Amino acid sequence: MLSMTEKEKIEEEIRQVPIKKAACIEALKIVQEHRRWVSDESIRDVADILDMSAEEVDSVATFYNLIFRQPVGRHIILLCDSISCYVMGLKGIHAELTRLLEIQYGQTTADGRFTLLPNPCLGTCDHAPAMMVDKDTYRDLQPSALADILEKYT
Ligand code: FES
Repeated sequence: MLSMTEKEKIEEEIRQVPIKKAACIEALKIVQEHRRWVSDESIRDVADILDMSAEEVDSVATFYNLIFRQPVGRHIILLCDSISCYVMGLKGIHAELTRLLEIQYGQTTADGRFTLLPNPCLGTCDHAPAMMVDKDTYRDLQPSALADILEKYT
């Protein structure tokens, strides 16, 4: 069941759009902000508020790669796997990250600290390779810098 805060925030989004359905992605983002991921139950709750079917809401949720439909770690690592980053050393970054975290793409560390995901271009190709950890962007990455970066996130 959605919390009162989640419901109020979703209602606020609904007031800003011409039809309820148009608030779908924002509603999903609100739920995720509060729970870190969007469960089947939350999909149904959002569908009820927006007068949509659960299937419609689920199709929106699964279209956006940053809406998580399964539990994720406390911190999300988005590693750019597009061409500039590939050319500038993605393989080395990926190898070191997976070594340090002991996980592969799509997995979460055993301590629940990090989830590692591939991501299309992060928009900073002139400073490739790049990754994001939560809302922080790291550019001109070197494998040797990764351990210190990860240390910042508990
Ligand atoms: S290709 Fe990696 S940031 Fe653009």
